[in-house]
Amino acid sequence: MIDFGELRELIKSRRSVRKFQDKPIPEDLLPKALELATWAPNGGNHQPWRFLIVSNKDLINKMADAVKAKTELIASWPEAKQFGEVVERWRKAADFFRSAPVCIAVLLGKYSSIADQILRARGETDPVGREIRSYRQLGSSSLQSVAAAVAYLLLILHYFGLGATWMAGPQQAKKEIEQLLGVPPEWDFVDLIPVGYPAETPKNPGRKAVKEVVQFLR
Ligand SMILES: Cc1cc2nc3c(=O)[nH]c(=O)nc-3n(C[C@H](O)[C@H](O)[C@H](O)COP(=O)(O)O)c2cc1C
Repeated sequence: MIDFGELRELIKSRRSVRKFQDKPIPEDLLPKALELATWAPNGGNHQPWRFLIVSNKDLINKMADAVKAKTELIASWPEAKQFGEVVERWRKAADFFRSAPVCIAVLLGKYSSIADQILRARGETDPVGREIRSYRQLGSSSLQSVAAAVAYLLLILHYFGLGATWMAGPQQAKKEIEQLLGVPPEWDFVDLIPVGYPAETPKNPGRKAVKEVVQFLR
């Protein structure tokens, strides 16, 4: 087993990195990181994930253009005005991943547990069945599984000295990104992870005190 102090340091020193050096990532490093990330726990060991390693600059730029266009659209709506400066910062940062040497697109598969299959067969007419289905949709097992793999991945990349950011924002251009990357219809694009050697040392944003987020029920 590894030393707890080293594990804690690895976890606590990882930051979301949004500026990258113009330095290529060795070919074998990302598959190696992803292989390890897929050891994350996942619903029914169904492994409802796929990872597209995109290093083609033209594709990265086109994804960034699509995200930027959608961001500009949302920011232009009158409803955005009330959020003032925050909108401006969000608008400017939305396509920062353009400068990354590699972006990993994360795809979510459709996994139906036995409970999901029974509930689907039960249909819409039973209000109890409908309610249970809504709980399961909210806490989607597939999405939780993918999130576990992404969390592992970010730590492993950090271990390799690489910087990355978990981005759900690009989902606003889901349709365009799926078209650009040729994502098959049975998969859904959910995250983009720009990766590269860091060109910044981001400030530690800290975390809430553990007593604020943990409760013992004895
Ligand atoms: C589900 C999820 C979605 C995120 N989406 C974005 C995003 O779209 N853009 C971005 O710049 N950062 C995104 N982040 C990164 C968070 O902003 C970051 O993790 C948080 O501010 C804490 O900073 P740290 O990762 O450096 O500890 C996301 C993180 C998670 C877990």
